[in-house]
Amino acid sequence: MCGIIGYCGPKPVKEVLIEGLKRLEYRGYDSAGIAIVNDKGLELIKRRGKILDLKKSIPEKVKGFYGIGHTRWATHGGVTDINAHPHVDCTGKIAIAHNGIIENYSSLKEVLLKEGHTFKSDTDSEVIAHLVEKYYDGSLEHAVKEAVSLLKGTYGIVCISVDEPNTIIGARNGSPLVLGIGDNEMFIASDVTAIVAHTKQVVYLEDGEVVKLTRDGFTTTDLRENPIEKEVEHISWELEEIEKAGYSHFMEKEIFEQPEAVKRAMSGRILHPEASAHLGGLNLTNRDLINIERVKIIGAGTSYYAGMVGAYLLESIARVPAQAEIASELRYRNPVVERNTLYFAVSQSGETADTLYAMRELQRKGATVLGICNVVGSTIARESDGGVYIHSGPEIAVASTKAFSSQITVFYLFSLLLARMRNMSFDEGARYIENLQSIPVKIEKVLSRKNEIERIARKYSHYKDFLFLGRGFNFPVALEGALKLKEISYIHAEGYTAAEIKHGPIALINEETPSVFLIPNDSLKEKILSNVKEVKARGGKVIAIATEGDGEIEDIADDVFYIPETAEAFYPYLMVVPLQLFAYFSAIELGRNVDQPRNLAKSVTVE
Ligand code: G6P
Repeated sequence: MCGIIGYCGPKPVKEVLIEGLKRLEYRGYDSAGIAIVNDKGLELIKRRGKILDLKKSIPEKVKGFYGIGHTRWATHGGVTDINAHPHVDCTGKIAIAHNGIIENYSSLKEVLLKEGHTFKSDTDSEVIAHLVEKYYDGSLEHAVKEAVSLLKGTYGIVCISVDEPNTIIGARNGSPLVLGIGDNEMFIASDVTAIVAHTKQVVYLEDGEVVKLTRDGFTTTDLRENPIEKEVEHISWELEEIEKAGYSHFMEKEIFEQPEAVKRAMSGRILHPEASAHLGGLNLTNRDLINIERVKIIGAGTSYYAGMVGAYLLESIARVPAQAEIASELRYRNPVVERNTLYFAVSQSGETADTLYAMRELQRKGATVLGICNVVGSTIARESDGGVYIHSGPEIAVASTKAFSSQITVFYLFSLLLARMRNMSFDEGARYIENLQSIPVKIEKVLSRKNEIERIARKYSHYKDFLFLGRGFNFPVALEGALKLKEISYIHAEGYTAAEIKHGPIALINEETPSVFLIPNDSLKEKILSNVKEVKARGGKVIAIATEGDGEIEDIADDVFYIPETAEAFYPYLMVVPLQLFAYFSAIELGRNVDQPRNLAKSVTVE
């Protein structure tokens, strides 16, 4: 998804922008560009392709101390040099970079064309540059305000002009912008990762705010010129945390970070004396919690599957009816918000448009929505009625891994909290905590045997279609395993509940369609083994993920990967890791771009 960086200060701006754009690469993009103002005027360089291509195409002589940069992920208009940002006005003096979508751009463009403006690109964003040109009367800030007040849709915008040196104007509505305060220098970006190498002092802009930034500082106002006091926040993420730390890919690093991530998500949240959990940010009293009659969970992609695990847990552990739903579906079906129903919006980035808009729709109908987010200060985290940070640290690879394990950890804790207020005894609570706390070590054990998964992945990576089959708590994990394989290896995979295959998918089974079965040693094992036999009888190959000690599975399956034993409800943690590794090694074997798979973006801020 698109990324923005802007800089004003004593350093050569070209380097700061390119470095910032490199750090935004993880979001997924297809083109990039920079605009710099110097004594020659405005220099604009933009290219489809990688940041490295952009860097190579910047002439040595391009110098300057302030400017803006952008990575684009195409929505309106093809992937071309011209459609890349920044966009300039007719005079070539004003440049803008934009994240989001301008929904009324065609009517605005029509008027601007009639007024004599000429457009170069097919993008929705270019209208902003021409609107700023139209309203410029000596104040860039004023012109940006006039321009954005006409926009319908979402935007995070940065704007510079030759006529107002050493100034960047930023405006936000629905697409994040953050300021970085340095020593005699200022940064603006769509994401703290772009600026964290330079400063930890940041200010998050809210919707409807406009910032004027010079190297000495910034002022924030709303569109009606009312000044807004902003709080400076200190971010704790270290730069090294964002880099690969010796792993070949961010995805590999993040898979291996899961024991730590799960520990962090639990940290300070387990109450041993009460055999319960404490989740500080819920903003709910015990009375509110006891009155909850139903829980609904929304999310997209991996976060939705984590929500599904959450729903299974809440029903079976806390005995509260619970259901997960894809956020984009909920939003447009005019959902009924029932009394005493608690909603969760699950989102690693906290910026996913589908989840954010569904959350707003629920809130409009009077629902209480809690966020489960990773990115601190993200829009969902700020706009939700309360919530829990998963504290995974930055997740850079487009395919989500550690966020899943951390998100489900929050549901394990929340289920414990509700269960202890209802049906669960102290002893049961203590045992549950023991199981939960033993998970990080068990994940380590799975990770220590990555070579076995690598061998299996190499053996099967040439197949074109896979089925991923699990039941109960592990049905969402089967869906997640199939999603991971699709996302990064581009192999077609379907996730199904194992019992359901006889109602259709079994027709796909032949020697060319392997099935990955999740077979924990739990109450459904025998049922799943019957499904395995059905597949084997039709010539299908079977890869099993099974519990240590279940030697009999070797006799039926073609390949088995063993995971440590745990209590029934906790298997999703141990099942998902081999599936992540399976997808990872399959993608490597096929020479895919693991961290930035084609057509995908890390943070999808459009519907
Ligand atoms: C994108 C990513 C997925 C992610 C989904 C939800 O599609 O490619 O990996 O699961 O968005 O993202 P979120 O940030 O809301 O968890």
